[in-house]
Amino acid sequence: MKLYTVIDNHSGTSFDSTKEVKRTSRHFISEHGLSILIETDAGKRVLLDTGASDMVFRQNLELLGFRPEDIDLVFISHNHYDHLGGLETMIDAGVPIHAHPNTFSGRKYTLLPDGTTSEVSASNELLKVLAKAKLTVSSSPVELVPGVRTSGEIARIFPFENETRFYKEGSGQLVVDHMTEEQSLYVTSKKGLVILTGCGHPGVCNMVHQAKKATGKPVYMVMGGFHMSATPANNERILKTMENLRNMNVERIAPMHCVGFTATKMLSDRFVNMDLMWTGSKIEI
Ligand SMILES: [Fe+2]
Ligand SMILES: [Fe+2]
Repeated sequence: MKLYTVIDNHSGTSFDSTKEVKRTSRHFISEHGLSILIETDAGKRVLLDTGASDMVFRQNLELLGFRPEDIDLVFISHNHYDHLGGLETMIDAGVPIHAHPNTFSGRKYTLLPDGTTSEVSASNELLKVLAKAKLTVSSSPVELVPGVRTSGEIARIFPFENETRFYKEGSGQLVVDHMTEEQSLYVTSKKGLVILTGCGHPGVCNMVHQAKKATGKPVYMVMGGFHMSATPANNERILKTMENLRNMNVERIAPMHCVGFTATKMLSDRFVNMDLMWTGSKIEI
């Protein structure tokens, strides 16, 4: 199984020299967003999220040696703009999309440090083209392709992972958004279960707990956003996250996107098996 980082907040310099790239520019571009391509041992390709902007998505996907139509299915983790940027391209390519039923309903907001709110949901342009998407939705676990399944809605077990920084429209006013629509992916690898997360709003420990409970399998690796950069990611939350990941016997981690420098540094001190999956990077498991 191979995992390619199409978009992350940071860029590396690697690209696959065995693949033909026609672009004169060979630079991966980074932005605040996430997109990970999974290639199973059977050759099926599932894309988790599509970054924040279409230009970046197209450039990086091509540099990795893939066309949109090479992807078998797109899974959208949740309705935040930094995961939806290349979705229109994938819809235009006729690639099926899977998400939670509430993913594209209602407007989403985040609280800024000065007390104001900023909208973070899908653009009106994207909502218009969704009508022609081959979209399937479910709040329960679904096998997308052999060896790749969705988590379904994620139960909140660990109170320290509760978030109150996001809002949504409700009854004419903004109410706290607990992001119940965010789902993760479970990928079967030769070394065990790999969990892929989008932003990680439900909490990475909640996501690991649910995966272990639902599959009855040990979790080999967790990769993606753990959402600890913009939240009140105090040291206490980071320490509790590390402690619980260790207690749940997670062997390997790849903190990306919204994990942030402080948490990444602390995690690297604690986990020997830690990967920095910058834009353009690839790992084989
Ligand atoms: Fe995000
Ligand atoms: Fe998010």
